Amino acid sequence: MSTFPKGFLWGGAVAAHQFEGGWQDGGKGISIADVMTAGDNNKPRQITNGIKAGENYPNHEAIDFYHHYKEDVKLFAEMGLKCFRTSIAWTRIFPNGDEDQPNEMGLQFYDNLFDELLKYGIEPVITLSHFEMPYHLVTEYGGWRNRKLIDFFVKFATVVFKRYRNKVKYWMTFNEINNQSGMMNDWSLFTNSGILKQSGEDIRRSMYQASHYEMVASALVVQIGHKINPDFQIGAMLAMGPAYPASPDPHDMMKSERAMQANYWYADVQCKGKYPAWLLKYFERQQYNLDITLADQDILRAGTVDYIGFSYYASHVVQASKNETVDFMAQDADTSIPNPTLPTSDWGWIIDPIGLRYALNWLTDRYDLPLFIVENGLGAFDTVEAGQIHDPYRITYLRDHIKQMALAVKIDGVRLMGYTPWGIIDLVSAGTGQMDKRYGLIYVDKNDAGEGSLHRMKKDSFKWFQQVIASNGDNLA
Ligand code: BG6
Repeated sequence: MSTFPKGFLWGGAVAAHQFEGGWQDGGKGISIADVMTAGDNNKPRQITNGIKAGENYPNHEAIDFYHHYKEDVKLFAEMGLKCFRTSIAWTRIFPNGDEDQPNEMGLQFYDNLFDELLKYGIEPVITLSHFEMPYHLVTEYGGWRNRKLIDFFVKFATVVFKRYRNKVKYWMTFNEINNQSGMMNDWSLFTNSGILKQSGEDIRRSMYQASHYEMVASALVVQIGHKINPDFQIGAMLAMGPAYPASPDPHDMMKSERAMQANYWYADVQCKGKYPAWLLKYFERQQYNLDITLADQDILRAGTVDYIGFSYYASHVVQASKNETVDFMAQDADTSIPNPTLPTSDWGWIIDPIGLRYALNWLTDRYDLPLFIVENGLGAFDTVEAGQIHDPYRITYLRDHIKQMALAVKIDGVRLMGYTPWGIIDLVSAGTGQMDKRYGLIYVDKNDAGEGSLHRMKKDSFKWFQQVIASNGDNLA
């Protein structure tokens, strides 16, 4: 008998802004991803004030899935995908975010895409907000600092829930809602919450306020979604990267415990419906006086999620500094330190398959909900040799992670819904804006400079994953 249950959701994951292109097609508005330039591992992406002539904005065309979706979905079907995770670009539906009426051409695009997927028996898994909110909501409202964003998001979600109620069953509200918590850099705040730092602002307070409004919005749409279709499964989506203590020193252990709390309190709110005690104490000490009303607290309690979707790429190691004896809160300068026991990717990300099993256990113990691994994969350089792409490193990475997933299911009894490797087709990296940081099992001919024919080719990993799916995870050879 298979380790993985019948109906296990083997699939692939992407996000609208990283692969659709067509940034001005079908009435689409400008999203925050449209004002981010390309960078690389040493050069951060820039967020420009509007679209500037002469700049390279890699998400504008991306891999032009908008015009290639039939050809690409056909390849997904050939690979045997049971599900496909993507997001709905908010700006295709509400170009500015604050309109009264949705844009019919945008709605039609996703009707066409979902019909195409369903034609091959591929279940759509949809993220409502994946780093691509309308730019207008940033410039006019200050992003998620503003309570009004809740109404705009609820309207957007309600429109798409109603429209696709018979086509989509699996939803997630905010992609990696927690990745703004630890990394107080411009990139993560901008992509998650549409926040650009203002002078004199206590940015950490703004992050907590924005996060609160996002979680209220998420809890509201969970309730609305269940009314529109009681069969909807609506999940949270977390960036999961366990923090290991650097040593057996209890200070390091306490540091790692606090790092986990500081990263995953979002799940406490979204799964348990309330803030953890340690965080309320922290807000008090900081005198934040956040706008968290009693009505909000009722909404959070009533809108807990059905499952936890999460990304897993790497674990991290944290170390307490000498003077940390009381608070152990992550400081802005905190970075994870190297783990000498593990290899890293070309981009310096720690490769730790056992960390995935640990994450599955940790989440199960804490929340006792079904789990869905909705991102996992290796960003690597690929080379085309005589029309072929040999990527044994990617196969090894995926195989090692699936083996740990299998142990979590078989030995630890984790309830796992599915597995969708990230970037099933090459796309624009969110962190660096590069094309050459490739995750795909399908190659797309386009480079960092934006040159290439956009021609699609199957990598060796395509065939390998095809056989994994066909055997329901039994054949990993
Ligand atoms: C996750 C995001 O953070 O990691 C994706 O949900 C992103 O959008 C992925 O692409 C990989 O990160 P990167 O920076 O390599 O694209």
